[in-house]
Amino acid sequence: RPRVLSGIQPTADSFHLGNYLGALRNWVPLQDTHDAFYCVVDLHAITIPQDPAVLRRRTRVSAAQLLAIGLDPERSTLFVQSHVPEHAQLAWVMNCLTGFGEAGRMTQFKDKSGKQGADSTSVGLFTYPILQAADILLYQADAVPVGEDQRQHLELTRDLAQRFNHRYGQTFTVPAPHIIKDTAKITDLQEPTAKMSKSASSPNGIIELLETPSRSGKKIKSAVTDTGRDIVFDPENKPGIANLLTIYSALTGRTIEDLTGAYDGKGYGDLKKDLAAVVVDFVTPIQERTKTYLDDPAQLDKVLAAGAEKAREVSAATLATVYDRIGFLAGK
Ligand code: TYM
Repeated sequence: RPRVLSGIQPTADSFHLGNYLGALRNWVPLQDTHDAFYCVVDLHAITIPQDPAVLRRRTRVSAAQLLAIGLDPERSTLFVQSHVPEHAQLAWVMNCLTGFGEAGRMTQFKDKSGKQGADSTSVGLFTYPILQAADILLYQADAVPVGEDQRQHLELTRDLAQRFNHRYGQTFTVPAPHIIKDTAKITDLQEPTAKMSKSASSPNGIIELLETPSRSGKKIKSAVTDTGRDIVFDPENKPGIANLLTIYSALTGRTIEDLTGAYDGKGYGDLKKDLAAVVVDFVTPIQERTKTYLDDPAQLDKVLAAGAEKAREVSAATLATVYDRIGFLAGK
């Protein structure tokens, strides 16, 4: 079976709808068609300062949410990145294969570091995409289900795989991004041309899976739209309405045409009110299941430990080959 690998950072107390619609919902069906590896990338999280207790809590909350949306440890391998030491080890090798200028061209780094001075930006943030490449290449992933914002990191990953293969002989599968176009970029409810993001300027722009339904409802009702009144799908001129329709369509399975037909002659308020109800129906069972997993942290930790063990079977084999190809002496 072809392989997939993807990861998500434990940097918030809840995932948001952008994470879910852009990436996570694709992880679930891939469990049945692919050999699937999914990780909570805590090594990536510390590229910006983290409070230890908060990081620990968020790592468990992240794993619990992944189980709650339908990841099944029997059908996929769910693990925490720091439990598998090969990620950091391969990242070092990849660091030594990446040009300084090449890493400097990563737009996410430029966006994130631009907000701070050079001395408060960590070197880890700079090499972040190289660690991501290691995550993917360790598992010989054929495809990587992510949102649009990860495309450039995937390009770097492909370049590094090809570079290594060219220099040391065929070693890595060159992975392809697996991006679902319709929901590849869910936008901020307050700023509908920017992507919905944990680091958004206003918390009202993001819908969190674990926030109270009344809070989500308020955010949807106050979503920025436009001065028109027609409910049509026009991302260029009506990005707010287009985003609401995209979310509505993805959560219900109804096509955009069906929705614009159904709301013909109705107002923005009707659309928002109905979407708020759709979101409540969607998040309520996820919240209940997440809580159940969090109520038994020992069991959750056991699931993650078993996942790490399965992951290591693959990652250790890849790293051993890499070390050998590079010319490191066999240590035993
Ligand atoms: P992260 O944790 O920022 O986001 C997790 C996933 O959510 C997607 N996403 C979105 N999709 C659509 N619309 C949005 N507004 C939106 N916001 C976030 C992201 O594209 C991502 O797929 N670098 C990765 C984590 C990572 C990784 C990996 C991913 C580390 N190693 C290996 C794939 C493979 C990241 O920061 O994701």
